[in-house]
Amino acid sequence: MYAALTHITTHLPSRVETNADLCTRMDTTDEWIVTRTGIAQRHLAAPGESTADLAVAAMTAFAAERPGTRVDTLVLATTSPDRTCPATAPEVAARVGLGGIAGYDITSACSGDLYGLATAVGLVDAGIARRVALVTSETFSYFVDPADRTTAPLFGDAATVSLVERVRDPDDANLGPFDLGSDGAGLGLLEVPAGGARARALAGRGRPVAWESGSYLQMAGRPLFLEAVARMSASCRKLLADSGSSIDDIDGFVVHQANARIARALCEELDIPDGKALSNIRTVGNTLSSSIPLLLADSAAAGTTTPGDTLLLTAFGAGLSWGSCLLTWNPR
Ligand code: UT7
Repeated sequence: MYAALTHITTHLPSRVETNADLCTRMDTTDEWIVTRTGIAQRHLAAPGESTADLAVAAMTAFAAERPGTRVDTLVLATTSPDRTCPATAPEVAARVGLGGIAGYDITSACSGDLYGLATAVGLVDAGIARRVALVTSETFSYFVDPADRTTAPLFGDAATVSLVERVRDPDDANLGPFDLGSDGAGLGLLEVPAGGARARALAGRGRPVAWESGSYLQMAGRPLFLEAVARMSASCRKLLADSGSSIDDIDGFVVHQANARIARALCEELDIPDGKALSNIRTVGNTLSSSIPLLLADSAAAGTTTPGDTLLLTAFGAGLSWGSCLLTWNPR
């Protein structure tokens, strides 16, 4: 059995926060944010809107775009789940009328889409699933201190649905190979400490947890920047070697949108020609697991990516975790 990514649907919440909006509540400038990150605006969930709500909106849009498509598994990549327990995927499935199908979450931060794609391909290849909706949904803006100028400008909210389905002809399989990696030694570079067993264990059994002290993202930007470039470039090199390809064989590089300077540094490191690295960070910021599918869909809509293109997808994020894969863009 063979698997193919055949469709991507995206959903952005309508509320937009510009750099000028941020300047009204923190000591920053549009010039600093654009120069240091490439971000001019980001979309934010509406008041009261959560990760499951965005995922349901994306699944509803997907059903309208691909009417009659019977999904049998829903994998949700998110690092901003609605609850510590249970997973968010079953709720999303039930709310869109898919109650009863297999559903679970993947928590791989900004690499969530790549880990999700690898999981979906595995499920289809093994004959366990026929059509997987890989949903990415993030409202990470709730996990960022709105008054922190070093993190609040970076993140935006978004959801996407990628359909990974069984195809008969091996020539139609369009994903892979994959390279996935992680290094928990770097967990402290990007973490939200409160909310899990570690914070409860530190507080002591039965004692109240000081949620306020660790409920927002803590990030060491500079070392993370260096790790991002090093991990993604090593992963891309390994992937190219494993697949017997070179930079010249790749029509477009779909680099996780964390910072335009990270993508530029990666291009310099790998000698990627100007214009081959796709970008939409200016309008959406860092949307974690939604970043790669959003960029794919945006560049296809803009005509920058066209059917038949060979794309290299690469991502890096909290964990640390990273990954790369090849995709032949062949939507239906
Ligand atoms: O999604 C995957 C994981 N995320 C990443 O990979 C993010 C990686 N890191 C980065 O993208 C960058 O490190 C940042 C964008 C977070 C920061 O850029 P930077 O060039 O590394 O700046 P910095 O943190 O070294 O700060 C430089 C200066 C500091 O002032 P001093 O200490 O030099 O006086 C900061 O306080 O810029 C200051 N600063 C700001 N100034 C105005 C930090 N944030 C702001 C701001 N506006 N928003």
